[in-house]
Amino acid sequence: MKLTPARFLSGSFRLPGDKSISHRAALIAALADGSSEILNFSSAADCASTLSCLRELGVSIEQQNDKIVFAGSQKLAAPRRPLDCGNSGSTLRILAGVLAGHDFTAELIGDESLSSRPMRRIIEPLEMMGAKIESTDGKAPLKVHGSNRLNPITYKLPVASAQVKSAILFAGLNAPGRTTVIERSPTRDHTERLFNGFGVPVTTNADLSVTLDGPARFTGGSITIPGDVSSAAYFVAAAMLLPGSNLTIEGVGLNPTRAAFLSVLSLWGADISTTDLQSERNEPYGTINVRGGLSRTTSDRTLSESMIPSLIDELPLLAVVGSQIEDGIQIRDAAELRLKESDRLATTAANLRAMGADVEEFDDGLRVYGPTKLRGALIDSHGDHRIAMAFSVAALLAEGETEITGAECVAISFPEFFTLLESLAKR
Ligand code: S3P
Repeated sequence: MKLTPARFLSGSFRLPGDKSISHRAALIAALADGSSEILNFSSAADCASTLSCLRELGVSIEQQNDKIVFAGSQKLAAPRRPLDCGNSGSTLRILAGVLAGHDFTAELIGDESLSSRPMRRIIEPLEMMGAKIESTDGKAPLKVHGSNRLNPITYKLPVASAQVKSAILFAGLNAPGRTTVIERSPTRDHTERLFNGFGVPVTTNADLSVTLDGPARFTGGSITIPGDVSSAAYFVAAAMLLPGSNLTIEGVGLNPTRAAFLSVLSLWGADISTTDLQSERNEPYGTINVRGGLSRTTSDRTLSESMIPSLIDELPLLAVVGSQIEDGIQIRDAAELRLKESDRLATTAANLRAMGADVEEFDDGLRVYGPTKLRGALIDSHGDHRIAMAFSVAALLAEGETEITGAECVAISFPEFFTLLESLAKR
């Protein structure tokens, strides 16, 4: 994909449904008593992986115009083939929690990137609950031998991960008694919000523990998925950095465990406002307005510790933004980024340097100096959708043309990305 600089971005639009919420809504609808309808389901390839795994498990799912309809009140059945999770960590890890609570064996497989990512983090708690999971050195393929009578556990997460928390909570549905997950820092809470929204009470306590009393079953129903705020992030960042821009994004998710980048960018001088706040099955959403141009600010621009989980997928983009900010920015305590679809600390640093930015890489983060006038360059996405999109934003700001290799990987989360970007960019 070749990209040229833009003068500014302008327009008003809505986004396909949030990827994280779509995965969870599909799993809930598959397990629910009664039928369910999901509107504005994510167009991400990752969410298509979740639907195809559920179909392999015998779940009846129909696409009716813009709705996905689940028949409901069904029992999952042993799959005849391995369940292919593609590139999707959320599919593999959360579905492993679902399968742990079912009395059959299923194999979970993924692409090369997913097969290199750590899975002991789910194997350990799910085995404590009574499932047996075979792996290759703690990596996929995983063979899950489930049981429909798991033991409830109290588990302190060794890493801040919403996928691991969610896997344990889904397994807890089939564990008679109280399942408790204790977090180190709050991670995205879509699972908790949707469990409560579909009739399974989950309590979040001040000590960062989350509890669920099993066994429990969902009541089916309908949900319209809010637009994906992580997809919105690329447009918000590009607009703030291009003076003269004016963007309105309607119906977009504003869950505080996901939308923290909006406050960070405001602290860094962006002109962003949110209006028209509403909620759907406990998920807040609304309209984001962003105008181009930065005001001078003096705040500390280090992102660290408990701020990291709620910014986790936006950190490569925030590093790109950092290269445009007076005195730059710093990211620390983010070693988890090395375990994503690519090693996002290494791929972000290498690509920023290719565009002329001054970057220091630490084991757990990056220091990005700024402001730097970026130069168009050859960017390697490493097949990582968030790297491809973050550097598309950089390309709009750069001098000259940028080419991004493997850019088709944006379809993992956002197939419409380049078409939308081109329709908003004024040259
Ligand atoms: C996700 C959780 C995060 C995030 C990923 C989606 C989820 O991963 O990076 O894109 O849907 O729960 P971790 O749980 O590994 O932090």
